[in-house]
Amino acid sequence: MRRFWILKYLLIVSILLIVSNISEAAKGDKEAGKKIYERRCAWCHGWNGAGDGPAADFLNPRPRDFTSGIYKYKTSNLDNPFPYEDDLYKMIAEGMPGTSMPFWKDVLSSNDIWNLIAYIKSLAGLEGEPAAKINYGKQVSSSADSIKKGKELFIDRCSECHGDEGKGDAMKKLKDDWVGNRLWPRNLTKPWMFRAGSDPKDIYSRISTGISGTPMPAFDDPASKKKLTEEDKWHVVNYVTSIKNEARRIKDGDTVIKAKRLTGDMPKDANDEKWKDVESTAYPLVGQIIAKERFFTPSVEEITLKAVYNDKEIAFLLEWDDRTKSIPGDAKAQELADGELNEDAVAIQLPVTIPEGMEKPYFGMGDSGHPVNVWQWKSGTAKAEQSIKVMDATGFKNIKARDKADVTAKGEYNKGTWKVMMKRPLKTDNKDDIQFEEGKFTPIAFATWDGTNGEKGSKHTITTWYWILLKPPTGSMVFIWPIFVAGIVLGAEILIARSAQKK
Ligand code: HEC
Ligand code: HEC
Repeated sequence: MRRFWILKYLLIVSILLIVSNISEAAKGDKEAGKKIYERRCAWCHGWNGAGDGPAADFLNPRPRDFTSGIYKYKTSNLDNPFPYEDDLYKMIAEGMPGTSMPFWKDVLSSNDIWNLIAYIKSLAGLEGEPAAKINYGKQVSSSADSIKKGKELFIDRCSECHGDEGKGDAMKKLKDDWVGNRLWPRNLTKPWMFRAGSDPKDIYSRISTGISGTPMPAFDDPASKKKLTEEDKWHVVNYVTSIKNEARRIKDGDTVIKAKRLTGDMPKDANDEKWKDVESTAYPLVGQIIAKERFFTPSVEEITLKAVYNDKEIAFLLEWDDRTKSIPGDAKAQELADGELNEDAVAIQLPVTIPEGMEKPYFGMGDSGHPVNVWQWKSGTAKAEQSIKVMDATGFKNIKARDKADVTAKGEYNKGTWKVMMKRPLKTDNKDDIQFEEGKFTPIAFATWDGTNGEKGSKHTITTWYWILLKPPTGSMVFIWPIFVAGIVLGAEILIARSAQKK
């Protein structure tokens, strides 16, 4: 009986081997690949694959130039400059987070992808597979000791570009090898934004052979004084994996900022201990493209929020990773900027009246029927202090700054992160101000400006509208009522819909 099973097993294995050999031989038909390429890829990567499609000038990073044969992400070793077909498969199927390169696994069959690979390789005359893989040695599992060793190595080898805390905030101007576009070292605290995966093995691969076409060096390079041993590379990997900042991760469906009720005093500033155990919410930022001047190349990806209130006041903590502290008039800051240097800034947008139900104001900056309040903080210049301004707006063209603001704000920059606290009384006696009410869902939106990235005026990032809820202590009826009423309305709607269906 047992022998029979072994025979059966061997038979299956040999069939699988034969089948996989057949598919190996059939892997990639470049003529078929060309057709798919022209339909799906040419808009970005160009009709001849030179990375110069009609969309290319709006994108940073630019689409890859396939005629150069240089690829950024690979698992072949240093002696083999081009990637395995499996490496290319992964990039095409999974896409590249944080860039415009889409993932294709939902749209294209694996056959289509192999055909595409045959075609794009042919554009640079690449043939066959690399001769050898990166040597992964023996993986060191993560431990406090390994992370400590990794941190020391990181400070010595990586922080000059990736910053002391890995947020990519280092003080260097870096360019790519293709057209000399500005490059920013990756923010390593957000592994979900890595282009080519964030498993320990992926990070190990990047450290070993670097990223071709960019200043990110190969730490396997025998000629380099900074060369790392296999064991050391694993320590660095364990350190990098340990600095992940979950608070910055955007969670689908997280649309409400829950302001926490405090019994005592409000926090004094952005670093007050009182913020520590307040729940945080992160939202995506996109370039503002509704009003002129449209903006396609933002550098800040997300904003993280916390809010608290007491009997008298409400306070917001706005946090975002920004690689540069942009202080106009500061020589060092000017050196890092391309062209004009502006202040960094952040803004909160709120409607003047809390809408009934779940209606939100117009997507942009309100309209004549839906006026909004904008609280904008700016980081200051070498000569001027930080500032806060309250504006009334009824659309992009109708923005009026007030002489006096009821809002106070203070920001602090530390190792690649801005933290700004804004505070206002819950109620004011200005009819153009929003009046905050406990238990009500109030629409809220955010914007940021990175002054080093040329952001100024309407050139900035925005979020869509979300909600802020002043969440009373549990058990309070103020909070329960709206949910209760919403439940009854929903129940009634379902009943009506059902009876309509029956008829
Ligand atoms: C909307 C624009 C866009 C489209 C469409 C697009 N790409 Fe890309 N692609 C990019 C960008 C941008 C990059 C470079 C990202 C970077 O350098 O970090 C890129 C990079 C790549 C890379 C390089 C990976 C590496 O390791 O260097 C491959 C391979 C690739 N694309 C294949 C394709 C294929 C095949 C298609 C069509 C099925 C396609 N792309 C469609 C924008 C696009
Ligand atoms: C000379 C500057 C420089 C140094 C030194 C450097 N890097 Fe990088 N690194 C970069 C740049 C630039 C990028 C982004 C490249 C791109 O997106 O085109 C990058 C990207 C990365 C990525 C992202 C990979 C992905 O899939 O998105 C990781 C991980 C990384 N570096 C880790 C390290 C570690 C660990 C060290 C030290 C052992 C290090 N780097 C040293 C400049 C550097």
